Amino acid sequence: MKHLIVYTHPNPGSFNHAILMAFVNELEQLDQELRVRDLYALGFDPVIKMSDYEAVARGEVPEDIRAEQGHILWADLITCIFPIFWAGLPAVLKGYIERVYSQGFAYRIGKAGFTGLLKGKKVVIINTTGGSLKLYESSGMLDSIRQSVDGGIFGFCAMEVVGHKFFMNVPGATLSQREEMLGQVRSMARALCDSNGRRIE
Ligand SMILES: Cc1cc2nc3c(=O)[nH]c(=O)nc-3n(C[C@H](O)[C@H](O)[C@H](O)COP(=O)(O)O)c2cc1C
Repeated sequence: MKHLIVYTHPNPGSFNHAILMAFVNELEQLDQELRVRDLYALGFDPVIKMSDYEAVARGEVPEDIRAEQGHILWADLITCIFPIFWAGLPAVLKGYIERVYSQGFAYRIGKAGFTGLLKGKKVVIINTTGGSLKLYESSGMLDSIRQSVDGGIFGFCAMEVVGHKFFMNVPGATLSQREEMLGQVRSMARALCDSNGRRIE
């Protein structure tokens, strides 16, 4: 399988970076093809501009967007690794989605409404949070994030979300709890490869 990993965290010493490394190492051991797009390290410009609108209207694609779209077209399975910031995506990732998942590439608007154009692509999401599972469940935030990310972004583009894993209360986690979580990341990577990208939860 061809894996594209879209990683978003500014700190190379973060737990999210440890998740990235665990996932990548496991895939490498399983001889998978993989590409990592580290949005902060790339300095990806997340601000959608008038010139992006104008380019879409002319049927053109700015070079930085074309490069990212090429990675998406190449991949069978896209894994997004990011922390929850303000109840959703970090701004850099939100802007990457706004610019890269553009009209004509990720969806089309026709007389009958919207049509997703990325059918056949599978998606896995790995999130970390500051809040606890109890808080996320009692407030409805867990369902809300699943709905907006899985449905509102990837489902909208006709992609199939085959797994969405939350690692909760990461700042309060002990070393052994972190090791346990990284073990789960490695198991997820193995399960994805064993099942050839079928649903893992
Ligand atoms: C700008 C910012 C916004 C945050 N917003 C939330 C939030 O809305 N909900 C939440 O549970 N945690 C929130 N957090 C906490 C992070 O999600 C948490 O610290 C992170 O997932 C832990 O992973 P890390 O150690 O790799 O950074 C926020 C952190 C920052 C820096």
